[in-house]
Amino acid sequence: MANETIGVIGAGTMGAGIAQVAAQSGYDVVLVDQADEWVRRGLKTIRAHLDRSVSKERMTAAERDAVTGRMTGTTDYGKLAGCALVVEAVNEDLGIKSGVLQQVAAVVAEDAVIASNTSSISITALAALVPDPDRVIGMHFFNPVPVLKLVEVVRGLQTSDETAATVREIAVALGKTPVDVADHPGFVANRIVMPMINEAIFCLSEGVATAEAIDEVMRLGMAHPMGPLALADLIGLDVCLGIMEVLHHDLGEDKYRPAPLLRRMVAAGRLGRKSGQGFFSYEQGK
Ligand SMILES: NC(=O)c1ccc[n+]([C@@H]2O[C@H](COP(=O)([O-])OP(=O)(O)OC[C@H]3O[C@@H](n4cnc5c(N)ncnc54)[C@H](O)[C@@H]3O)[C@@H](O)[C@H]2O)c1
Repeated sequence: MANETIGVIGAGTMGAGIAQVAAQSGYDVVLVDQADEWVRRGLKTIRAHLDRSVSKERMTAAERDAVTGRMTGTTDYGKLAGCALVVEAVNEDLGIKSGVLQQVAAVVAEDAVIASNTSSISITALAALVPDPDRVIGMHFFNPVPVLKLVEVVRGLQTSDETAATVREIAVALGKTPVDVADHPGFVANRIVMPMINEAIFCLSEGVATAEAIDEVMRLGMAHPMGPLALADLIGLDVCLGIMEVLHHDLGEDKYRPAPLLRRMVAAGRLGRKSGQGFFSYEQGK
């Protein structure tokens, strides 16, 4: 796919990361969001990350400029027409994702691959929303995308061997390690990590320990690089709630019920790092 274009929908936490990695790997990138303000915000985040790499001498200013030069930010889905692969990374909401996938399918070429970065929604169900479901697949990146190597490759019932092979190949070209997992709620990573985060939130609300203490226990006792509450803030509490709701609904067991405190935090707009306040406080924009 050298010299080919990758489309990314959603310029939020994940979309910006995926767009950055794709442009750094030499692909032209079209980054689409719903409003100019969001597009600008995504491009600004990417620019800030690249500037940090320049200041740490991991990349030259000329390399940074070449990377940003390969990226186009837009609200116009029509600009995705020439993409060989489009990865959607919009909010974890079936209604939003279905509208987006239908708009993408209407503009891309017949042989373009359509991938979803969903954390938990069924790829089979998403694929059923577009006319050629065999080219739909899950390409689940991890946060922060420029740092973490894993891509869970999720085949829906309809996904063709060719689509899966293309996506594995592109994941490798992006410097990632693709791992095949089945289309089952939460796949592997979130099926395991989200109930842990949810349980940490129950511990906090039941007064078992403070947020700092809960995270310290898991860092020092389990050698986790960050505690579950800091991880929830990094992921976004709305994203965590969305995933727990899918696990609860689709697996049907009470052990997956979202902690009421998680719902309250989301209702209050305390979404973690991206809003400046979650279980911990953050300087806005960091
Ligand atoms: N945050 C994580 O750690 C993480 C990790 C892996 C996967 N994911 C998944 O990635 C996806 C995105 O998550 P995020 O954390 O980046 O969310 P986010 O809230 O940071 O960003 C979502 C973006 O999608 C945009 N958007 C919404 N509707 C749109 C539309 N119709 N057209 C174009 N853009 C639209 C929003 O404006 C926003 O910029 C979700 O499916 C999530 O489950 C998230």
